[in-house]
Amino acid sequence: MKKKLPIGILVSGSGSNLQSIIDHIESGRLDAVIKVVISNSPEAYALERCRRHDIPFVVINHIDHPLRDAFDQQMIEVLHSRGVELVVMAGFMRILTSRFLSSFPMRIMNIHPSLLPAFPGLHVQRKAVEYGVRFSGCTVHFADDGVDTGPIIVQSVVPVYDDDDEVSLAQRILKEEHKIFPHALQWYAEGRLEVKGRKVYLKEESSYGAKQAEF
Ligand code: GAR
Repeated sequence: MKKKLPIGILVSGSGSNLQSIIDHIESGRLDAVIKVVISNSPEAYALERCRRHDIPFVVINHIDHPLRDAFDQQMIEVLHSRGVELVVMAGFMRILTSRFLSSFPMRIMNIHPSLLPAFPGLHVQRKAVEYGVRFSGCTVHFADDGVDTGPIIVQSVVPVYDDDDEVSLAQRILKEEHKIFPHALQWYAEGRLEVKGRKVYLKEESSYGAKQAEF
C-alpha cells in the first residue's frame, strides 16, 4: 500500500479548498491523510465540512490568544501531536510567526488568490479588478517569513473581464485553486518538489511523463 502523506490543514472560512482536498483524497487522486484541521474561528463553515467527512478538527480561537506566539504555539503542539508532516494553509487568514515557520521549514504550503508577486495580502481580487489587470489567477507556494513571498510551486491564470467585480473574479479564481492545490500536494506527497533558493523544481516521474502539467 502507498504511504499517505500526513497533512494538517489550517482554515478560517468557507473551506472550499479544504473540500477540494477531501474530494481528491476520497477519490484516490491525492495520497494524503488529513490528521487534523485547525480553525482560528469557531464559525468557519469549513468545520461543517469536517463533521460531514469525519475529519478531526480543533478550534484555536485567536480571540482567546491575543499573543500571536501563544496562538502559534498551540497550533504547533496540535500539529506535532498528530504527526503532521506538511502544513496546508487553505484560506487561513492569520500571519504565521517565525516560531511556527521554523517548526515546519519548507513544510508549509499556502494558496493565494493572485498571480504572485502581484497583489500579496488581503482583498486581492478587488485590488486586481480596480488595478485593471487583464489576467489574474492563483498561486501555490511554500510559506516563508514574508507575506505571500515564498518559493512558487504552481500558478494558474484566469482572464479578467470588463464587467468583473470582486465576487465574479474570486469565483473564477477559486475554480482554479481547487485544481492546482491538490495537484501541488500530490507532487509533494510523491517527493517530487525540490526547493533551491527561490525556485521550486518538479522532478520527473515516469508514471506522469508528459502529462505532468495537465490538471
Ligand atoms: C481562497 O480564495 C484562498 O486563496 C484565499 O482565501 C480563500 C479561501 O476560500 N486565501 C487567502 O487570501 C490567503 N491570504 P476557501 O475557504 O473557500 O478555501
